[in-house]
Amino acid sequence: MDWGKKNRLSQVFGADGKCFYLPIDHGYFLGPTKKLEKPGETVAPIKQYCDAIFATRGIIRNCIDPEDSLPLILRVSGGTSVVGGPLTNELLTTSIDEIIRLNAQAVGVSCFVGTEHEKQTLGNLAELVNLCEPYGIPVMAVTAVGKELEKREARFLALCARIFAELGASVVKTYWCEEFEKVTEGCPVPVVIAGGPKCDTVREVLEFVHDGMQRGAVGVNLGRNVWQAENPPAVARALKAIIHENLSIDEAVKIHDEMAVK
Ligand code: 5RP
Repeated sequence: MDWGKKNRLSQVFGADGKCFYLPIDHGYFLGPTKKLEKPGETVAPIKQYCDAIFATRGIIRNCIDPEDSLPLILRVSGGTSVVGGPLTNELLTTSIDEIIRLNAQAVGVSCFVGTEHEKQTLGNLAELVNLCEPYGIPVMAVTAVGKELEKREARFLALCARIFAELGASVVKTYWCEEFEKVTEGCPVPVVIAGGPKCDTVREVLEFVHDGMQRGAVGVNLGRNVWQAENPPAVARALKAIIHENLSIDEAVKIHDEMAVK
């Protein structure tokens, strides 16, 4: 691997090869999502526990201090909204010049396998890899299911992850599912767990993250379950404990609870 790509990857993974990404990209199709109305304020109390943020160029330029930012994974697909046509109909939104100008350490693109826009969105991934590889910029492929949340099961997610790796993704982001090892074992690049809609309890979040890590994930990309929580810094600190410190679920819950009551 080229020095530049290795260097960028080392900025979005800890020295242990694990990662905690904080996505704040939801507005690109959802608008001003609850608790993410002012992304700069959402990120401020949590960022110390995270390895990178995942955001669009508009939020980066307008809400994040360039002199005090986490490493950046730039979301570069979009063009749809929850009130428009199918969410699957995404395009590449950001040029390679912009990616370089923003000094992104990596980029992220959604792919909608098994939909009418499968070919278009897998084409977006392949094109992005072709654009980024000459500059040593890693691509994270995002398993997207739109409104079809029932698709989050091992056989489908393993198929997606493998296809993304085959097309050149350096990292795959996918949902947690039962028998998560079926996803990680068939994927030759690092697999990061996505969050999805907010869980009822913090313990539930810590449980699926712990299970996914035990079954081969290298980390998480968790948004709503962190910044929509009652105490976002406490959740973030507990997640860091599981991801980077190998703590048990009970130990992480204790860390959360102690921070939350202060
Ligand atoms: C949306 C994304 C987001 O980054 C991510 O899924 C949102 O995080 P969460 O679901 O944890 O709120 O890729 O397609």
